[in-house]
Amino acid sequence: MKKVTIGTDVRIYESREELPSDDLILMEKATEALGKSHSPYSRFRVGASVLLDNGEILSGANQENASYPLCLCAEMVVFSAVSSQFPNTTIKKVAITVKNEKLHINMPVSPCGACRQTMFEFENRQGSPIEVLLMGETGAVYILDSVKSLLPLSFDGSLL
Ligand code: THU
Repeated sequence: MKKVTIGTDVRIYESREELPSDDLILMEKATEALGKSHSPYSRFRVGASVLLDNGEILSGANQENASYPLCLCAEMVVFSAVSSQFPNTTIKKVAITVKNEKLHINMPVSPCGACRQTMFEFENRQGSPIEVLLMGETGAVYILDSVKSLLPLSFDGSLL
């Protein structure tokens, strides 16, 4: 038996004001997208914006349904929009932010497992890493070099 540690490098910016300007613009788009969240059940808004290699920015927000399992995460909304509307582009970065109407979140929030798997499929398909920027309503911004680093020991289609 041997024990190994699988680590993840995270760059931590103390606040959004410290971000490089292109990252700040992307995070501001994700923050704008919070306004398009339909989340009357959870009152938890999520905004996600992607930067494409053609310079285009697309945004999405979570869309809930009275039949709860039908809820769509913000990441799923925007990543599906990319493959439907810009099928031949690659995603350079994704910025994700949240707003809980019931409590102030002063730290980055990580995507759910299903969204990690979905974004990982895109990363594999396009063959280049997607940088991930995470932010709460306020506070620090975490930046990871790839979706893979959010999903160690990941499952991919190579064995199917
Ligand atoms: N949600 C997202 O949009 N992305 C995630 O990665 C986690 C959860 C949404 C789904 C639901 O509308 C609300 O947040 C509460 O789970």
